[in-house]
Order: sequence, then structure tokens, then C-alpha cells
Amino acid sequence: MTQLSDHGPIDPPLLDPERTGPQQVDEAPAAHPDASWWRQAVVYQIYPRSFADSNGDGIGDLPGITSRVGHLRDLGVDAVWLSPFYPSALADGGYDVDDYRDVDPKIGTLEQFDEMVATLHAAGIRVVVDIVPNHTSNRHAWFTEALTAAPGSPARDRYVFMRGEGPDGERPPSDWTAIFGGSAWEPVGGGEWYLHLFTPEQPDLNWANEEVRADFRRTLRFWSDRGVDGFRIDVAHALTKDMSHPLPTQAELESGTHAEGQHRWEDRDEVHDVYREWREVFDSYDPPRTAVAEAWVPAHRRARYASPEGLGQAFNFDLLEAGWDGARFRTLIQANLDLAGESGTSSTWVFSNHDVVRHASRYALPTGTDLKAWLLSDGREPAADAERGLRRARAVTLLALALPGSMYLYQGEELGLPEVADLPVDALQDPVWARSQHTEKGRDGCRVPLPWTSTGPSFGFGSAGAHLPQPAWFAEFATDVQAARDDSTLAFYRQALAQRRRLQGTETLTWDDDGPADVVRFTRPGGWTSVTNFGDTPVPLPPGRLVIASSPVEGDLLPGETTAWVQQAPGD
Ligand code: GLC
Ligand code: CA
Repeated sequence: MTQLSDHGPIDPPLLDPERTGPQQVDEAPAAHPDASWWRQAVVYQIYPRSFADSNGDGIGDLPGITSRVGHLRDLGVDAVWLSPFYPSALADGGYDVDDYRDVDPKIGTLEQFDEMVATLHAAGIRVVVDIVPNHTSNRHAWFTEALTAAPGSPARDRYVFMRGEGPDGERPPSDWTAIFGGSAWEPVGGGEWYLHLFTPEQPDLNWANEEVRADFRRTLRFWSDRGVDGFRIDVAHALTKDMSHPLPTQAELESGTHAEGQHRWEDRDEVHDVYREWREVFDSYDPPRTAVAEAWVPAHRRARYASPEGLGQAFNFDLLEAGWDGARFRTLIQANLDLAGESGTSSTWVFSNHDVVRHASRYALPTGTDLKAWLLSDGREPAADAERGLRRARAVTLLALALPGSMYLYQGEELGLPEVADLPVDALQDPVWARSQHTEKGRDGCRVPLPWTSTGPSFGFGSAGAHLPQPAWFAEFATDVQAARDDSTLAFYRQALAQRRRLQGTETLTWDDDGPADVVRFTRPGGWTSVTNFGDTPVPLPPGRLVIASSPVEGDLLPGETTAWVQQAPGD
């Protein structure tokens, strides 16, 4: 059960004018009062095809999102980020885009997009859309044109075409492997090949081509003009490439011997020229449009993507990858606050998204579990301790919600939804399954359509079926069941977000480091303390009023695997 203070009303937060703490971040005076909305926002990721289905075809859609804005408002999020809703053959869940300035007819229309934005905005919720600039789909008009055009033509120059090895170009230009498995090169006849870092249906664009650059700026303006508030940038570290001859081998690419910023396609220094151009577009709006980079780069390289001259913010997946380790959390949190402070941005925190095993399940498994092998065993080996997983997931979520910076939530985590690990293989949609020669089940287990009601053909997702099969146990996680109980995970998320909104102040914290190593404890301006017990032995709670806890608290002791927020009374 979630405990709210029964000691009477809680005082309004006291904002600390002293701003103690090592990573002091002064917010630049905003040209527009809303310009900094993103700095400490709670952003809720929607995977549109699995959120809500308005017309019973089994596929989530934009009117479905509009119909569920009440859920998002009651949850208390500041913004939604929509994974791609553009026309797509779904070779990679929509990250294979046929047309960047339209809506997939199976999902809705541009008019329905506008209605959705208006409804979200009326509820005080901002809208972030996903931009996929590294590759188009193979059905994009440009790629169709490139296939019929001659080698060396302007149409082919928009992509990364190259002549193969051997007298007739019959072998690929290099032995590079695609991120989802197999070769990164696909032949198109005549000894010519094109590069695809992901699936063959996702040809990589040539970012040295000015027409490509101009078209993406146009796309950013297109959505900004429609009222979109910000952008999530897919694979932001891979756009620019050095394809000069001779190409290194895959082993050489991976050897790490290249100078920093000089890998052939990963995290090249000049990618930031692209983002400087985008910044001009963002800043031509009032308030400026925001962006967050998905950049899988070492922590010290992240700041470039997150700088105010660039995209402005970048995902930090460190806590997602940290396991259950208090000391590690402590170190990673401080490192990320320092990095964000140095580049004049705010940090981001995330535990789940559409690419990873849901965190309620990750924390249910022994430390070091090979998640791919676990999925391949249909979630049987090793056995998951679901109760522990949820307890730990709630604890780390409450910890991260107490931190300075932005929190990114993934649809369904507010229900404590576990991964659907036992999807039958014939239901799998993720290209990873086929591309890995059936050695990896992929990411469908976190993309199963949400349960809104405990009954009905797709648990209220729609009036008929769901495009990925939902297990019977989804009934107990349904939104309607949880909304009726004040001890549910949904009630806990709602309370946590409401309390965060009330308490969140200046972007600083002060560590309280005198406790045991597996207790992570810090105080925020205004006099509220978050304390997480990563151990099993109960520890004393700090003095003050209990605001919220991730698991039931008895008396003055914080149980193991639990986070609590405590607010000091004035003068404490
Ligand atoms: C990003 C997306 C992922 C997609 C990939 C290729 O990592 O999050 O879902 O498969 O890019 O676009
Ligand atoms: Ca639908």
C-alpha cells in the first residue's frame, strides 16, 4: 500500500534561496515564460500502435490517444512523446518511415493529429514527436527513385550507395554487420550496394547531401507549425559518415583505434553541424521547440548532443543499465548531474522504453541475468520474482522522480506492467527475430497493447483484437481495476507525480552520505528528502513528514527495497 502522511496537511514547499549542492544550474532567463518547460518535465512515451484502438482493427491509433487524454491528465504528465505514427510498412515498428510529413492511414489523418494535439494541449500536456533521420524506409519516394536511377546520379546520392568488391562488384563493399544482424549492405544489381545500419528496409541517408539536410529542416518546421512542442531524435549519433576508401573491416571498426569523433559512422564530430542547423529552426519558434537525442555514446560525449547549441537534451540510459546497486546509482546520478550542469542542460532519467525489457521484469530477475536468453526461454529461466520486481521498480522510479531533471516514462509502467516474455514466436513482429536467425526474440514483449479494462476482447484496448496477443493476466493490471484502488501502482504513480509537481524546485540536490552504503539519500531545495533502501534491512527514516513511499512503511523504519520522500517541517 502507498502511504500518505496521516499527520495532517503538508506545508507548501519552501524554495531554498541558498541553492546548496555541487551542481548549481542557473536557468537562463527565458525569452518566453514557457521556454524551460522541458527541464524538469515528466514525459510519457506512447507507442501509438499499442496504446488505444478507436476503430476495432487491432491497431492503436491517434483518435485512440485523443480518447485517453483523461488518463494522461489524471496521471499528471507534462508531455507525451509519440513513437513514429508516419506511413510505414512496419519493417521496424514504424522506425522505417515512408513519408515524414504524413500520418499512416491505418493510424489516422493529419486532421486527427491536429485534434489530438489540441486535446492534449487543452489538458496542459505538451507533444513531442519522433524524428528518424538516419534512414528512411525502402518505400520512401526518394529510395524508389534511387533504385531506378543510375549509379552516381543525384537520386542515389541521397543514400549511401557504393560499388561492391570483386570484378563485377559481386561482393559487398565491406564486411560490416547491421545492428539487427546480417550484412549492412544490400545489392541492387549492376554491382551496386546500399548501406543499412538496421534492416534492409531502412536504407541509410547521406547526410553530406544538402538536399537531405534541407528536407529534414522542412520536416521539423512542418510539425512545429502544427503545434508540436519538441522532438525525440532517433539514433542521433549515426547520421554523418566517412565512407572514403579503403573501408575498414568490421573488426577494425570495433577495435576502437580510431581517434575520438572519427569512427566511420558512430558519434562523428561533424554530426553536430547538423544539430546546430536544427537549433536555428527550433529557436525560430516561441517558445523554442525542444529536442532530446537518443545517442548511444559514452557519457563524456553525451554533452555535445545535449548542449543548448545542439539538441538541448540527451537520454541517459545509465540507471536503466545499472542493475540493483545503490552505490552505483549514487555515482551515476552525480556524474550525470555534473555532465548536464557542464553543458547547461538538465539530466534525463529513464528505466523503460519500447526497446528494452520492462523494468518491473528486469528487477524481478537475479543480477546479471542474460535478458535475451531469458526471453528465449519464454521467461521461464531463470524464474522471475514478480513481487520483488515490482517493489524494486517502484522504488527506483520514486527515487528518479525525486531527482533534478526530466523523467521519461513508458506507457504501461504506471500499471506496473511486466514484460510479456512468452509471446509465441509466430506472433513476433520485431525484425530482430528473423535477422538474428531466431536467436533473439526482440522487443515485442514490451509493445503488447495496453489493458484498459479487466474484461473485453482486448482488455479495453479496442472493441476487437490486439495486434500482439495479450496474456490473460493482463486483466489484473487493467487501468480500471487499478484506478479503483488506492494501493495500486497506478495510484502510486499519480500520487508520486502530483507530489513531485508540488515539491520540485531548483535543479540541485545535497547528498546525505552518512548512512549505510546501500542507502541512497539526498535532500532537495525546499527541505524534502528522498531515501532509498537498496538493502534488505530496515533503516531509520529521516525526521519529518512522510509524503509518499513506494511500499508500505510501518512506524519510523524504511523497509528494504523501498523509497520514501520525507518533508522537513520549517525549522527542522
Ligand atoms: C532506435 C529506436 C528503435 C529502432 C532503431 C532504428 O534505437 O528506438 O526502436 O529500431 O532506432 O530506427
Ligand atoms: Ca485502430
